[in-house]
Amino acid sequence: MAIDFKKYIASIKDFPNEGIIFRDITPILQNGTAYRAATHELAEFAKSKGAEVIVGPEARGFIVGCPVANELGIGFVPARKPHKLPRAVKKASYDLEYGSNSLEMHIDAIKPGQKVVICDDLMATAGTLHATVKLVKELGGEVVGAAFYVELVDLKGVEKFSDIDIYSLVKYH
Ligand code: ADE
Repeated sequence: MAIDFKKYIASIKDFPNEGIIFRDITPILQNGTAYRAATHELAEFAKSKGAEVIVGPEARGFIVGCPVANELGIGFVPARKPHKLPRAVKKASYDLEYGSNSLEMHIDAIKPGQKVVICDDLMATAGTLHATVKLVKELGGEVVGAAFYVELVDLKGVEKFSDIDIYSLVKYH
């Protein structure tokens, strides 16, 4: 039986700021069956796109992307917050539904032409995705898809990526 993932997403009003409904995916992680099923759905999508490596932005992209890479038997590359990676990096900055941040990747993290699927927990305004796509392209990779647990449809993130196939388990309006 297919899992209703919305049952495993908590909605918290006015967190972290007034007017935001925070979609908390930690109940998925707490439930072994739900976490495995969510991982499997994203892995099937990544496989269908021919993914050769998974890239996940810090921090929830690690939780979502690492088991997907592991299920497919392919590598995982972290896109990290500034000053965490020890070797030469490329950096990209981005705005969020609330606030802004930067991400860095090691310059040798992606092989030329390597097919990348980006995994994260949630797509809001798609600032994080935008920065991650930019980094992967600068490193010579090809972004063949992006996969999320949750998409906030009204923030119109998908519309910013006409050339990337975007998959999500659940959508909120
Ligand atoms: N990141 C950006 N917007 C969010 C939201 N509404 N819920 C959870 N994570 C988010």
